[in-house]
Amino acid sequence: MALLYKADPVRGAIWQRLFATEAPEIDFRHWPDTGNPADIRYLAAWTVTPDLLASLPNLEVLFSTGAGVDQLDLTQVPDHIQVVRMVEPGITDGMVEYASFATLALHRHMLHYRKAQAEARWAPIKLVPAQDRRIGVMGLGNLGRAVLARLGSYGFPLSGWSRSPQQVEGVTCHAGAEAMPAFLAGCDILICLLPLTVETRGILCRKIFDLLPDGAALVNVGRGGHLVESDLLAALDAGKLSGAVLDVTEQEPLPADHPFWQHPAILLTPHIASMTQPETAARVLMGNIRQHRQGLAMLGTVARGRGY
Ligand code: NDP
Ligand code: OXD
Repeated sequence: MALLYKADPVRGAIWQRLFATEAPEIDFRHWPDTGNPADIRYLAAWTVTPDLLASLPNLEVLFSTGAGVDQLDLTQVPDHIQVVRMVEPGITDGMVEYASFATLALHRHMLHYRKAQAEARWAPIKLVPAQDRRIGVMGLGNLGRAVLARLGSYGFPLSGWSRSPQQVEGVTCHAGAEAMPAFLAGCDILICLLPLTVETRGILCRKIFDLLPDGAALVNVGRGGHLVESDLLAALDAGKLSGAVLDVTEQEPLPADHPFWQHPAILLTPHIASMTQPETAARVLMGNIRQHRQGLAMLGTVARGRGY
């Protein structure tokens, strides 16, 4: 029974050492040194090709090395192979840090001060207390909940939105399309932490921006495909939205001539909000393989029909 890991050599070397010392019962192989393909029951990768899947006749589980699975074409993965996304504390910690940074930057007018500094202008703005700045998170999964828990410590009023009804302490929760207007009306800063699915592609569009309070701001840490980029530019330029922090874009890397680069109301980062941490992720994977060997549920199992 072997695990094939498809990743860069540096990460591969870290995982190889961890598996050798902490899970010697798992035969760890680093792609492309597959050995006998018939031995491979588990594959951990960010992306896979149909050819790779077809070459592994006994594959049982495909682990995404990231939190999302939208980079995988699930229609190409045979139904008998379980797909599992990465749910590990390193990703959560990174996302909590980034979402806090982005929220505080918008809350404390850092886009305004970035511009004022570039123009050597001393231009203070009245401070808004945290209790008067309402934060809403789209997506009440592992990351959305962790981000809300941290933001709550600053005193922001919190709300959240998900597909199915959820309960989160200290958070006003909304669910489904019909609850969207009430949710959005209470978001001075909207944070997108949804998975990218057929249902959520293009969700951050003019219709949603129009339902936000005037001057609201956006943080997109989900996927670039969530955002209709031209609608964001129009909303910023019309003053409907006051600013945006974007970690993800439809095209990555973002072309040098894209208007986001120079926009004064956009703070852009190159998909670095969070990253899988090799040590913690390897341990989660070991745990999941052990669970699977015993016929138990694995952490992060994807419901194929939902797409996340
Ligand atoms: P989870 O699967 O744990 O949570 C997803 C949440 O989104 C759930 O609350 C789910 O609702 C909700 N949701 C899904 N579809 C819909 C819908 N159609 N309408 C309303 N709500 C919906 O995901 P994670 O929290 O672990 O991760 C979220 C995403 O964050 C990842 O898929 C990835 O795209 C992104 N990410 C970005 C990173 C970066 O560096 N920028 C790093 C890591 C992740 P319900 O509760 O009802 O199931
Ligand atoms: C992820 C990511 O999904 O890095 O893990 O975006």
